[in-house]
Amino acid sequence: MEEAKIQELIRAAIRQREAAYTPYSHFRVGAALLAEDGRIYTGCNIENAAYTPTNCAERTAFFKAVSEGERTFCAICIVGGPEGGPADYTPPCGVCRQVMMEFCDPEKFQIILARSTDEYRTYRLKDLLPQGFGPGNLEQQ
Ligand code: THU
Repeated sequence: MEEAKIQELIRAAIRQREAAYTPYSHFRVGAALLAEDGRIYTGCNIENAAYTPTNCAERTAFFKAVSEGERTFCAICIVGGPEGGPADYTPPCGVCRQVMMEFCDPEKFQIILARSTDEYRTYRLKDLLPQGFGPGNLEQQ
């Protein structure tokens, strides 16, 4: 992916992190999801007093995008860290990796973990979810 696009995604995730609703963990995460048509969908984590309804930033971004009709994606950038502190590399949780597996090609989909616009690491979904179970596994033989 072009460096300019990566920078745009990182900036969008950093900005989105400010909207995180985290009264319980105080750990704020922002995500920016790039769809194949070039649109960017952002998401933040949204916590809940009952804890389990909490939604991660990545899933917020995916669900916003899919609910708007998007089905194919190129990359997601994730920026997370404790409230008031700098961001650190924040890998997606297992549930979010599984949601990515539903809509993304594990060989191609890129996951960018960023601390800042200067410091980031890029992975493929297949690296973070080896032998993932996806829609292809349910196709008839
Ligand atoms: N969280 C995310 O939003 N994304 C991740 O990749 C890891 C964890 C959120 C969930 C919860 O609100 C807080 O971070 C602490 O687990």
